[in-house]
Amino acid sequence: MAEWNTKISVHKDGKSIIRGYELEELVGKISFASMVSLLLKSSLPTPGEEKVINAILVSSAEHRLNVSSIVAARSIASTGNSLNASIAGGVLALGELHGGAIEGLARILQENTEEASEIVSSYKANKKRIPGFGHKVYSTDPRTQKLFEIAKSEGVFGKNCEKALKIESELEKQSGKKLCLNVDGAIAALITDMGFSWRTANAFFIVPRTLGISAHVVEEFESGKPVRVLREEEVEYSGELNKKL
Ligand SMILES: CC(C)(COP(=O)(O)OP(=O)(O)OC[C@H]1O[C@@H](n2cnc3c(N)ncnc32)[C@H](O)[C@@H]1OP(=O)(O)O)[C@@H](O)C(=O)NCCC(=O)NCCS
Repeated sequence: MAEWNTKISVHKDGKSIIRGYELEELVGKISFASMVSLLLKSSLPTPGEEKVINAILVSSAEHRLNVSSIVAARSIASTGNSLNASIAGGVLALGELHGGAIEGLARILQENTEEASEIVSSYKANKKRIPGFGHKVYSTDPRTQKLFEIAKSEGVFGKNCEKALKIESELEKQSGKKLCLNVDGAIAALITDMGFSWRTANAFFIVPRTLGISAHVVEEFESGKPVRVLREEEVEYSGELNKKL
């Protein structure tokens, strides 16, 4: 076997083949959501899955300016960097607490066979946060509600979505706080019900949010202030003054 082996794509006899299909056959015939399934799961989605994947992509593409990834990307764009450097910087600001919690919950749902109550109590005992729950502005994430509504009507809402909702109620019961199943958590449950591996999970946020980041970077180029910095009143110095050598 060659050192670099792939089952994803090849250019052969003048044709590009993607997961077995000729690229020219796919173009104009399948949606971007179907392409996501073909690339990340090696198979085309059912019509219901296609609608849910499309809804996931739309729900994650953009939210607001004041999130870490957009602030990072726009700051980088404001100091004379290129589109690709600014987008890369925004993507690097995604992490376990912002846009990157999908993987954590998808892994729990795919590997942890414990009951919801046991999962919550062991995270609490270890003083860890359960990925996919809680939100800075929402006590109920409307994106979760909408995605689950679509999934139910398309027959995609399955046992992993139910388990994620059980974890949400257990978390409230055991911590006394409403920590909602957020959009990352909802996506984790949905992709698990559709058979995607947890290793693909964060791509369901990174791919669409790259589009939102791109729009912000272009807006920054066209109408932003050069060299973005925090205002003086937003920064507090708590170190020492007047030290002598
Ligand atoms: C998203 C998040 C950063 C929002 O945080 P926040 O609203 O600013 O809340 P705080 O960080 O102030 O936490 C408030 C309390 O809730 C707890 N908490 C918050 N999210 C929790 C979670 N997912 N699991 C368990 N406890 C959680 C905190 O430990 C804290 O407890 P304390 O008051 O006893 O110290 C937070 O909920 C979180 O870390 N979630 C997990 C990661 C995640 O899903 N990110 C994707 C967001 S779309």
